[in-house]
Amino acid sequence: MAKKLFIKTYGCQMNVYDSARMADVLAPHGYGMTETPEGADMVILNTCHIREKAAEKVYSELGRLRLHKQAKEETGERMIIAVAGCVAQAEGEEIIRRAACVDMVFGPQTYHRLPEMIERANRAVGAKVVDTDFPAEDKFDFLPNHVTNPGVTAFLSIQEGCDKFCSFCVVPYTRGAEQSRSVAAIEAEAIRLVDAGVREITLLGQNVNAYHGAGPDGGEWGLGPLIERLASRGVQRIRYTTSHPRDMDDALIAAHRDVPQLMPYLHLPVQSGSDRILAMMNRKHTADNYRRIVERIRNARPDIALSSDFIVGFPGETDRDFADTLRLISDIGYAQAYSFKYSARPGTPAAAEDSHVAEAVKEDRLATVQQLLRAQQTAFNEAYRGARMSVLFDRPGRHPGQLAGRTQYLQAVHADAPTRLIGAVVDCDIVDIRTTSLKGVVDIVEPDHNQPSQDRLGPQTERAIA
Ligand code: 5AD
Ligand code: SF4
Repeated sequence: MAKKLFIKTYGCQMNVYDSARMADVLAPHGYGMTETPEGADMVILNTCHIREKAAEKVYSELGRLRLHKQAKEETGERMIIAVAGCVAQAEGEEIIRRAACVDMVFGPQTYHRLPEMIERANRAVGAKVVDTDFPAEDKFDFLPNHVTNPGVTAFLSIQEGCDKFCSFCVVPYTRGAEQSRSVAAIEAEAIRLVDAGVREITLLGQNVNAYHGAGPDGGEWGLGPLIERLASRGVQRIRYTTSHPRDMDDALIAAHRDVPQLMPYLHLPVQSGSDRILAMMNRKHTADNYRRIVERIRNARPDIALSSDFIVGFPGETDRDFADTLRLISDIGYAQAYSFKYSARPGTPAAAEDSHVAEAVKEDRLATVQQLLRAQQTAFNEAYRGARMSVLFDRPGRHPGQLAGRTQYLQAVHADAPTRLIGAVVDCDIVDIRTTSLKGVVDIVEPDHNQPSQDRLGPQTERAIA
């Protein structure tokens, strides 16, 4: 009988990708995904350590899981509980000391060894397995070639780790040194995804535009040429995340001009608009460097939508520094962005600073920056009211008869449309703007007489034929 696997994913898209690959690793061993932890044979918490309280959240989740595990044991069966990801990497055995219900702890670089870990955990009741190596072998060489749960959109990890060492960030410690996969390996995975029906691929890396993988010509390829290559292999839409401003090279900027499959959206974190803070953050760029990079990108692709991450309340940040951040945001004009209060991460250089900003000041600055960013997001979206946009529908919407999708600028769109349009890029008229999503009307519908009638649009909406 199929064994039930429950995975809870925290944090970034890299974790979403890793969780999907864990499911791929376990599928041939009889594990199928389940939606809840109750009764599962294996539970994996794929954790994130980037900001505060990550570990605490994991421990309180483990408290709840312990009860499910006990219930399962009462029926004479076993539930294996594993903690994976960056908290696992950072805390290691400490997790088992604090939460005895945990059977297994493994980091982001060892999940290809999962079947062997399960075997070790099963060898004896109470056996514990900890594997937080940065192994010599490359996990990608050991991951299966099949895609277990293909959707319309997929992540593809092309690069891992980071050598930038921003002074606030744990990633260089939890994910290790920068490593790029070969062009051939990425291409093969992309082709498998396309063959499985995937229309949009987001290339992932902690510092994705630092990508420098072995090319088929024996040379080292950057992200720009890699994107061009994938565009020629049937990927309809390509995105990439997350980038560092220093690594926006000419070839990548040119790809934004020349490759129609590369979507006009770029998440390019700047973190702060103050040169003093940027230097303390070890960001290796100034605010003006960033402005110039954005100008070059906009020259190549004038309609590009920009996104960023901001940290407020970095140690030593003054009102003046914060005003510089607001000024930079006003200068750039973002389509959307993420903002966070600085939180000290143990082991990072910034955590040792003694000029920490008061919590109330951080709260205040966060509210101010979010208000500005929300206004920019609304303005960005409002500019498309009444416009016709191409939307890739990737899933059913919240209400019956609705589909949800994304525009080329990554705006969420909801529209009444037949389910057969999932996976299609469809022209939509944008008729309303909500805070974080757009309401669309499907303009082009190909009548398909093989579909059941409730699956077709009525005569009023069926205005044009594709
Ligand atoms: N405190 C607050 N925000 C942080 N980030 C990373 N580390 C910290 C920290 N210690 C934010 C950065 C990064 C995003 C993924 O998380 O803005 O770009
Ligand atoms: Fe962390 Fe990004 Fe800086 Fe790397 S570039 S250290 S991942 S914030």
